[in-house]
Amino acid sequence: MKLSDCHNIADFRLLAKQRLPWPVFDYIDGAADDELTKDRNTAAFADCDLVPDVLAGVEDIDTSITIMGRKSALPLILSPTALQRLFHWQGERGVARAAEKYGLWCGISSLATVSIEEIAALTSAPKLFQLYVHKDEGLNKSMIERCKAAKFDAIALTVDTIVGGKRERCLRSGFSSPPSFTLSSFLSYAIKPRWALDYLFREKYRLPQLDGHVSEGSSKPATVQGYFTDMLDRSLDWKKAEKIRDDWGGKFVLKGVMSVGDARRAADMGIDGIMVSNHGGRQLDGSRAPFDQLPEIVDAVGGRIEIICDGGIRRGTHILKALAAGANCASGGRLYLYALAAAGEAGVGRALQILKEEIERDMRLMGVTRIDQLNRDRLRWR
Ligand code: LAC
Repeated sequence: MKLSDCHNIADFRLLAKQRLPWPVFDYIDGAADDELTKDRNTAAFADCDLVPDVLAGVEDIDTSITIMGRKSALPLILSPTALQRLFHWQGERGVARAAEKYGLWCGISSLATVSIEEIAALTSAPKLFQLYVHKDEGLNKSMIERCKAAKFDAIALTVDTIVGGKRERCLRSGFSSPPSFTLSSFLSYAIKPRWALDYLFREKYRLPQLDGHVSEGSSKPATVQGYFTDMLDRSLDWKKAEKIRDDWGGKFVLKGVMSVGDARRAADMGIDGIMVSNHGGRQLDGSRAPFDQLPEIVDAVGGRIEIICDGGIRRGTHILKALAAGANCASGGRLYLYALAAAGEAGVGRALQILKEEIERDMRLMGVTRIDQLNRDRLRWR
């Protein structure tokens, strides 16, 4: 299988599986417990049908939206994800360049493998920094200051990782950041020599946002489950979230809001938006899918704050369904990570081109020329 054989996100997943050592592939592909929530995140879209209009004159269409004050060429944000240089040596650099080419927001994680400053210098794409609140207050402060200096466009405060989810595939494989090559795990890496040579001979692996504060995950091997549980601030609450918003002073969203009550509270706090997300099913298994939960949240806070539907998206039609249900935008992580792992920046570019073409085709088939023409009248739940 090669890149030109990839025609949808599922194809990129297969190519990624071929190219990555299995512990790394399973880290991306896996989720918590029985992975029910991860599967439901995508399956939820199949329980809802689109109702097209015809004869709508769809020669010229506009796929763009404005989100958090910046224009986006497509109603899609590349969600922040961690450890990207482990998946392909180009890592966040390749993703940021592809985001710029397609006029999209890109997310950069506290656990990214390229620094805030380098990403800012590399791309004019709108940038969202994903803040994990650590027990180390100095680290939190330093990341916020670095985002200010680098003129990031928004911060997403992650609120669904108060402890680590139970990632059973990682428990089995022993996956850690950085990878530790034990006698038993060595073979799983050695049988993918291209990955192994990139890892060993290209730029040294590290998590530069943590520099000077935390060595776990960067130079000292840690599991992601253990990192969340040990390093993150379990006392994080609304008061602290408000303080972080005030210290930052820019566009601010909460990533991982699922309940109507929390969405209302976020709106009352006057924040800019929420990402309705269950962290790709990687945290609380059995948590509801974002698309299932979206109508309730839209009914409660739609129009007051921006609502981003995050998770499970694999198709242009999924994005249109989320927008028709009332989201301002959709977002996803695995949808570009499989492509990054498959073929670096070229892979991400191809995945985005496929999604762009699907969005354009599906808008025309739906008989809409602008995103704001999509509404709940165009949906039927089974
Ligand atoms: C995860 C983090 C790091 O593995 O986003 O879920």
